[in-house]
Amino acid sequence: NTGKLWGGRFAGGPSPELDALSRSTHFDWRLVPYDLAGSRAHANALRRADLLSQAHHAELLRGLDALGERFASGELRPAPSDEDVHGALERLLLEEVGAEVGGRLRAGRSRNDQIATLFKVFLRDHARTIGNLVLELVDVIAVQAEAHLGTGGTGPAIMPGRTHLQHAQPVLLSHALMAHAWPLVRDVGRLVDWDARVAADSPYGSGALAGQSLGLDPEGVAAELGFTGASANSIDGTAARDFVAEFAFVAAQIGVDVSRMAEEVILWVTHEFGFARLHDSWSTGSSIMPQKKNPDIAELARGKAGRLIGNLTGLLATLKALPLAYNRDLQEDKEPVFDSVDTLEVLLPAFSGMVATLAFDVERMADLAPRGFSLATDVAEWLVRQDVPFRVAHELAGACVRRCEELGCELDELSDEDLRNLSPALTPAVREVLTAAGSTASRSGRGGTAPARVREQHAELVSRSAEL
Ligand code: ARG
Repeated sequence: NTGKLWGGRFAGGPSPELDALSRSTHFDWRLVPYDLAGSRAHANALRRADLLSQAHHAELLRGLDALGERFASGELRPAPSDEDVHGALERLLLEEVGAEVGGRLRAGRSRNDQIATLFKVFLRDHARTIGNLVLELVDVIAVQAEAHLGTGGTGPAIMPGRTHLQHAQPVLLSHALMAHAWPLVRDVGRLVDWDARVAADSPYGSGALAGQSLGLDPEGVAAELGFTGASANSIDGTAARDFVAEFAFVAAQIGVDVSRMAEEVILWVTHEFGFARLHDSWSTGSSIMPQKKNPDIAELARGKAGRLIGNLTGLLATLKALPLAYNRDLQEDKEPVFDSVDTLEVLLPAFSGMVATLAFDVERMADLAPRGFSLATDVAEWLVRQDVPFRVAHELAGACVRRCEELGCELDELSDEDLRNLSPALTPAVREVLTAAGSTASRSGRGGTAPARVREQHAELVSRSAEL
């Protein structure tokens, strides 16, 4: 028993070179528990179709369970002669229960519908794991946001909000942090949508491409494996891999979203920004420069995003113009998406730990928030409330900035006389908006950075992520 699933029509065995190219056990071995679950469901379907005696059925299930236990204890290994996980498990099953019984299991199924089905089950499992890890990161962000809302007597932490990386308008730190949580909530929503689509479409029963002739029950197997329905088209069932590409897209999008937060953390912990400090346990040193404390987790997050994008584009390139139905090219769908899974499952916990332990220098942020003329919009909008047309107000606020540059001061340091000289409309009452706190408080529409709105947003974030 060499574990070969084919050979009847071949006079000689495969060349070693072919074997070496064809072999996939070094990466598909992680599918063992899923393959065994599929085989259990298939044995049950054979029994229901009366193609297995009760005794043979029981013996097959016993053999499959025994393989499951050996896998769990780390003892089950592929042999060099095994082509893939499916062939290896059949060989091992034959060793376990003998050829007379073990040789009955393959009836009515092909590796083509088998792999398409169990790969879906595998990815659905990991979509759940990854979704939970993303929600943990959302949680950590929400906790940091809440800690800086200033409900304990101090005012909320205010920081310079930026566009084009330039000072734009002051915002609450909590607001800026939660801006990174919302895309992650949508990513988890994407995983949930993806899961419902995949669940509706169990390829089992598609056979090699044309369906099966043995009176098996694809819907029963689908239900046993946690699907809500079976494929409507057996060619599609065996050839489709959009479920893999879509999974890889969501993985890449999560990587991209995390990388955008990573980039901000990298900036915040520079000496020049000085907005935050990394915890010792979540940062690294330098082998030569003793003073260094590096944001390696954030940098790895930034780097891994590129790798996740590569996995998606590689996969799409494999699928492009590939004729239906199964082609061996499709075996190339596994490694990239296994890599995406592994990458996120190791990255997300580290990233969450880094975010949870970031210590913000709220004094420095507050000090910088009104600088760089970030209150100029507030001057213009205050003028609008005094019935000045916005175009004029914009010009006047711009003139204030120009005057500040001449004097080398900030907007709130202009004297009453300076203001009056620019326009009689600029009365000293404008000073009420010339603080970062006044500015943020005024942005009180839905989604704005006013403390009351940000507190509501925090509650909304917590309840939205609890629903997922
Ligand atoms: N191991 C293959 C894969 O991952 C499934 C085997 C199908 N092979 C075949 N010759 N039809 O896609």
